[in-house]
Amino acid sequence: MDGRSVLVGLWVFLPAYVANMSPVFTARIFPWWGAPIDGGRLHSDGRRVLGDGKTWRGLAGGGLFGGATAVVLAHTAAGPFRHADFGLALGSHPAAVFAFGFLVGFLALTGDAVESYFKRRRGKERGAPWIPFDQLDFVAFGLLGFALGTPLLAAGWAWDVLWSDWLALATIVLGTIGLHLLVNRVGYWIGLKEVPW
Ligand code: CTP
Ligand code: MG
Repeated sequence: MDGRSVLVGLWVFLPAYVANMSPVFTARIFPWWGAPIDGGRLHSDGRRVLGDGKTWRGLAGGGLFGGATAVVLAHTAAGPFRHADFGLALGSHPAAVFAFGFLVGFLALTGDAVESYFKRRRGKERGAPWIPFDQLDFVAFGLLGFALGTPLLAAGWAWDVLWSDWLALATIVLGTIGLHLLVNRVGYWIGLKEVPW
């Protein structure tokens, strides 16, 4: 644990970050595949269970983007990130690395959908801000993906990297709130998102 831990945390969690940002892109690539996860159903409170913003497309894309990101990381040999670099996860089969990233990305967006469930129950419309839950929804589930997916990788990777480094873990939890707000604002400025949060 040292100053690099901040970068380590942001680096290893990239599969979850990319997955979490991917729905706005998959929505543009597959505009015709917008079937909502809740099938349009209403909860007993009269509001949508999840809403039109939570699609199967987003969930599937999150898994694919998460998997692809993990594979890219596994082929990157970045010096400053030495001990956390997936590129040094020697002994991990590429398919296992993809499966790991898929699990992390899929669960990250499952967390996002779970958050929408509670948002709807609180009467917040699709797209309404709910800070800090909008920022953290994918973090808890993404970390769960890290814990569950660790056996897929060679010994000493993924969860083990975070678990031994509280600063990396804290960066993921706390740094993500600020980073997420910043990224969404930029996404709004460049026209990718409809709201700045
Ligand atoms: N998205 C999707 N499928 C998902 C998650 C997100 O298609 N499983 C797309 C939707 O177009 C959504 C956009 O990504 O509008 C941004 O996601 P997010 O900000 O999480 O959704 P909101 O529209 O803000 O909806 P909610 O209030 O339910 O969070
Ligand atoms: Mg959300």
